[in-house]
Amino acid sequence: MQNISFTKYKTSQEIIKAANSRPDAPKLFVETYGCQMNVADSELIMSVMIDAGFAVCDRPEDADVLFINTCAVRDNAEQRIRNRLQALAHLKKKKSGMLFGLLGCMAERIKEQLLEQEQIVDIIAGPDSYRTLPALVAKAKEGESAVNVLLSREETYADISPVRKDTNGVSAFVSITRGCDNMCAFCVVPFTRGRERSRSPQTILDEIRQILAEGYKEVTLLGQNVDKYNWNNEEVKFAQLLKMVAELDPQLRVRFATSYPQDFTDEVLQIMANHPNICKYIHLPVQAGSTRMLETMRRGYTREWYLNRIEAIRKFVPDCAISTDIIAGHPTETEQDHFETLSLMQSVGYDYAYMFKYSERPGTYAARNLPDEVSEEDKSRRLDEIIALQSKLSHESNKKDVGKTFEILIEGESKKSKHKLFGRNSQNKVVVFERKDTKIGEYAHVKITGCTSATLMGELIEPN
Ligand code: 5AD
Ligand code: SF4
Repeated sequence: MQNISFTKYKTSQEIIKAANSRPDAPKLFVETYGCQMNVADSELIMSVMIDAGFAVCDRPEDADVLFINTCAVRDNAEQRIRNRLQALAHLKKKKSGMLFGLLGCMAERIKEQLLEQEQIVDIIAGPDSYRTLPALVAKAKEGESAVNVLLSREETYADISPVRKDTNGVSAFVSITRGCDNMCAFCVVPFTRGRERSRSPQTILDEIRQILAEGYKEVTLLGQNVDKYNWNNEEVKFAQLLKMVAELDPQLRVRFATSYPQDFTDEVLQIMANHPNICKYIHLPVQAGSTRMLETMRRGYTREWYLNRIEAIRKFVPDCAISTDIIAGHPTETEQDHFETLSLMQSVGYDYAYMFKYSERPGTYAARNLPDEVSEEDKSRRLDEIIALQSKLSHESNKKDVGKTFEILIEGESKKSKHKLFGRNSQNKVVVFERKDTKIGEYAHVKITGCTSATLMGELIEPN
């Protein structure tokens, strides 16, 4: 097997080309579910496997090894993956020796039992075991059980250069922390992704220099709770890291996710305010609006604390957009709690929200101690009310932008028309406009002429 020297090639696309030109290299296909962290992990997985001699392909039917990088955050995420496995089962019948691997959070949650439950699965690998994937594939080929669900206190994959295959070439994810120590009552993530740990600033900066050289214009720093970033006992905390990244290149847009209300500091806001290339957008999950519910959820902050953080954002970064996550129907939630969620949404005036029905996850504090007793009917109705309110708030927020001009980073072609492109403004809002002679990856100035609750529409302004 011919080894690929990653340092010899400039871009992920060149690495993929070299990998795919090796004769007889077995082919890998990776399908990704869940959060941005999983997208970033799939790029690490691709890198590990190419290094071990694999080629990568674009369709599951061409693969010798098929990996599904899974999510476990809600039951419906797991159901989708089980259905997908059933839909892919016929491929194995056609191609003898084809191997299926379940990777990521669902693999970590269910572990060996998955081999019994999903008989077509050959490999199980949790989020901290991706370096061992080539060895697991070799074991599975021999017909042995191939499971690695060990969690680590140190693993950050810091030295692995991700291979960005399914990318627009404009915007890249870079993970800065892994795991989570928060232990919110409802959440399975601390069990699937293990303890919180930070990656060295040097390896983060090096990776971003590399993507700048590849022509990327935007980086999103990723972690379950980026505010807990901490290298060498407070020598570099998140605020300092953010500053270092922003100062690499003023043309590079910098985003980050996810922020945690209890740990989100004014220092980070000051750095955002002082650096025009740090995007004016914060995702600050609240989950619920009443202090009682937040206590039950073990979130560690009150309604007042959260609203104080919102005030701080408005003070330091007045043009900042804010989005959130909300759960409807968490155990013990009353109509009064639900009402307080709606009233908090209204007083913050979120620009965007991700909204979910509570889903009990085995092993969590809530599953062990708080019966899932809000009726399905109430959960659905409350979620509908939350969604309806957010749709109104998003529309109001977008209407305020009509008439304004924004700098847009162009990301791709509009799904509806070849003549139109779309990009995002600093506030992370999607803007669609007539393409004229602009190109993907460029910055453009667009004046907003109309909107829906989901999108801004505008026209190009000639640069002067
Ligand atoms: N049920 C519903 N939503 C959940 N989330 C996390 N765990 C659950 C659960 N058990 C949501 C939270 C979190 C987002 C990533 O998913 O809102 O912020
Ligand atoms: Fe991401 Fe959480 Fe889903 Fe894991 S369980 S993939 S961390 S959203």
